[in-house]
Amino acid sequence: MEMHQSLVAATPLINGSRLSERHCEMARIGATANGGVNRQALTPEDTEGRRLLLQWARARGYTAAIDPIGNLFIRRAGSRADLSPVMTGSHLDSQPTGGKYDGVYGVLAVLEVLETLDDYNVVTERPIELVVWMNEEGSRFGPVTMGSAVAAGAVSLERALATNDARGTSVSEALAQQVAQLAPLESRPLGATGHAYIEAHIEQGPVLEQEARDIGVVSAIQGLHLYQVEVRGFEAHAGTTPSRHRKDALVAASALIAKLRAEVADPADVLRFTVGRFEVAPGSPHIVPGKVTFSIDLRHPDPEHLLRTGERILELCAGEIEACTVCAKVMLRSSPVQFDTRLVAAVRNAAEHRGFGYMSMVSGATHDAKYMAERTPTAMIFVPSEKGISHNELEHTDDEDLAAGAQILCDAVLAAAAMEL
Ligand code: GLV
Ligand code: MN
Ligand code: MN
Repeated sequence: MEMHQSLVAATPLINGSRLSERHCEMARIGATANGGVNRQALTPEDTEGRRLLLQWARARGYTAAIDPIGNLFIRRAGSRADLSPVMTGSHLDSQPTGGKYDGVYGVLAVLEVLETLDDYNVVTERPIELVVWMNEEGSRFGPVTMGSAVAAGAVSLERALATNDARGTSVSEALAQQVAQLAPLESRPLGATGHAYIEAHIEQGPVLEQEARDIGVVSAIQGLHLYQVEVRGFEAHAGTTPSRHRKDALVAASALIAKLRAEVADPADVLRFTVGRFEVAPGSPHIVPGKVTFSIDLRHPDPEHLLRTGERILELCAGEIEACTVCAKVMLRSSPVQFDTRLVAAVRNAAEHRGFGYMSMVSGATHDAKYMAERTPTAMIFVPSEKGISHNELEHTDDEDLAAGAQILCDAVLAAAAMEL
């Protein structure tokens, strides 16, 4: 029997064990020896993950489309094709030593919601669309959240497609290969927006666990700047070149990082400063390094503070240090974003209604929701991360917590579908 959603007496209950099984299956793709996954964007493993998801989706009769930057859209039809969809999703790509839940959870939780709606014969007026954003992690190809940034017009399609990985393969080449293997998919223009966007994600920090809450009601995402610093010295023989004649780029880069760390030290421990990539050239044990490049990931919830600190970093990364020359460029400046208060309230109400412990929070990690929020009313749902460990193969969230978040997602998506926004 088919029922319109407003006539359903019992609200749909998601199937927690199906959700956990799907996680186990997906985690086999790109599985690492230490219990995590390596499924970086547009690799054969990423393609395999997308193929498995599409297989599940097609078995349910959902349609699939892809846009020019590789964002994937899986749609459960509504009764009114003229209405814009409620969009919800996350990413399937991972860090090189990633965990089983970062991004994957927000994709599989949506699949679980869609399948639950099928199981309960719920017909929504609006379509509900699962979005799998391309290259959220930015590890193989920068910048982070590439697919959603291009969809929002914050990064141009041309620049993104021309980005190379460390081996010189471009996004354009890797994407063409992936698309050929996922065919047939409908083509969709860039810039899809919806009636609303809700993303479920693991917290990736320790707060929910420490506060013994089941659900994070996310009100905002802090800002993120990414810089690339280049230190140029002069290659020289390691055995014959006296110290006074050296222009050692590694010595200079180490001194510079120590200076930067002292400069950005934050007694309140709110500012985040990370050098996560550090490359020494030419990388021979017997050559004084001639060049070092390193990344700076800088984050803060206050846009002015972030900008001030970013400008100070650029000042310090210019000129000469230890006889070497330094320059820096801005790779990404993603400002903090506030979510839609009505949708945030819908998430809070769902948690309240289901009797879960919840709390309001600002996301320390960035997400594709950041770019959706600029164009579509957006909210996020967090579930706890064990010991706050993330971007690590040991990342873990209990099945019970996965299920709780998926239930809140189901309730919030249905609420959003019925809301005037
Ligand atoms: C997302 O992966 C982030 O680094 O915040
Ligand atoms: Mn993520
Ligand atoms: Mn991540």
